[in-house]
Amino acid sequence: MDIAGSARPGRATAHAVSGPGGSPRGTTGAPLPFKRVLVTGAAGLIGRAVTWHLANHGVPVTGLVLSDPGDLAADRLVVGSAGDRASVEDALDGADAVIHLAALPAPHLGTPEEVFCGNTSATFSVLDAAGAAGIGNAVIASSVNYLGYLFSPVRGQTFASLPVDATTPSVAADPYSLSKVVDEQIAAAMHRRHGIDVVCLRFPFVGGLGEVPGLDGRLPARAAQLGADPGAGASDLWLYLETRDAAAAAVAALSPSAAGAHAVYVAAPETFVPHATADLIAAFHPGATLTRPLPGRTAPVDLEPARRLFGFHSRHLLELPTRPLPA
Ligand SMILES: NC(=O)c1ccc[n+]([C@@H]2O[C@H](COP(=O)([O-])OP(=O)(O)OC[C@H]3O[C@@H](n4cnc5c(N)ncnc54)[C@H](O)[C@@H]3O)[C@@H](O)[C@H]2O)c1
Repeated sequence: MDIAGSARPGRATAHAVSGPGGSPRGTTGAPLPFKRVLVTGAAGLIGRAVTWHLANHGVPVTGLVLSDPGDLAADRLVVGSAGDRASVEDALDGADAVIHLAALPAPHLGTPEEVFCGNTSATFSVLDAAGAAGIGNAVIASSVNYLGYLFSPVRGQTFASLPVDATTPSVAADPYSLSKVVDEQIAAAMHRRHGIDVVCLRFPFVGGLGEVPGLDGRLPARAAQLGADPGAGASDLWLYLETRDAAAAAVAALSPSAAGAHAVYVAAPETFVPHATADLIAAFHPGATLTRPLPGRTAPVDLEPARRLFGFHSRHLLELPTRPLPA
């Protein structure tokens, strides 16, 4: 979904594929066209994976962190808040792209003001400072909670239409989900203000398979929980994304095929519960109209915009059987 509107052609090819970050130095990945990337929230679950991914591709990383955990793959760390303009401007030094992940990622992690105002103030500071510094591309973490179902104080809300896509309205009523709605509006405004291209990634539940030391392994446990209680995954549609795929998506989205501010869903192509998606929807969203068939465990989300915008795909998938949903 284009949330800013822009007639300008994409700048995906405008980066020079050369310079300090342009060639791998004893690394495992293909060269990436960035001299240095600022990663906010670099000490968090997704931030660690993004930092690891960039380092594997030979791209220097500046991490903006609230405190130094001492084991990050970033070669420069700035300790400070993403909501503090001076810290952000310091952290932007030498960067030519930004991945903004710093946030309180659930409504219960602070007061309503700390969650909503803290998250949105950080997004404004980071994107406004990046735009003012002439940076051309940023990616920010939005969430499927943009939609507002998981943390809603209104219980029992169900989707009217599935799969979710760019037309699905938000029903946000909690400080966290609302912060993601406003973050996406900030992205659109900063594109209009500075011309910075911003991709807002609507992440689902992100978790690792535990295969990489230093990255998390919470995906199998969550899948086991939902296998035992599939209704617990209904409000976020049983969607997941493996941590390394989330990191790869964030980096790929720094080179979008179209200019503007965009918000797109990213997720594994299948759910992480062992039941047919159509059966889950019939049981837990009984009023939903299916706008297209969802065979097998197909994730009830439109992933095409992310594929078109930056070639999104998932590589790290949970292997699960499909068995009947218990009555
Ligand atoms: N992990 C998920 O399942 C998931 C799903 C959807 C969206 N997201 C979003 O992705 C982003 C990263 O999530 P995560 O799971 O890695 O969270 P996390 O809590 O593991 O990491 C967030 C990091 O940001 C830091 N932080 C918080 N406020 C900050 C500030 N003002 N300045 C600097 N640092 C700050 C925290 O200290 C933490 O290290 C968040 O924006 C979150 O809302 C995550």
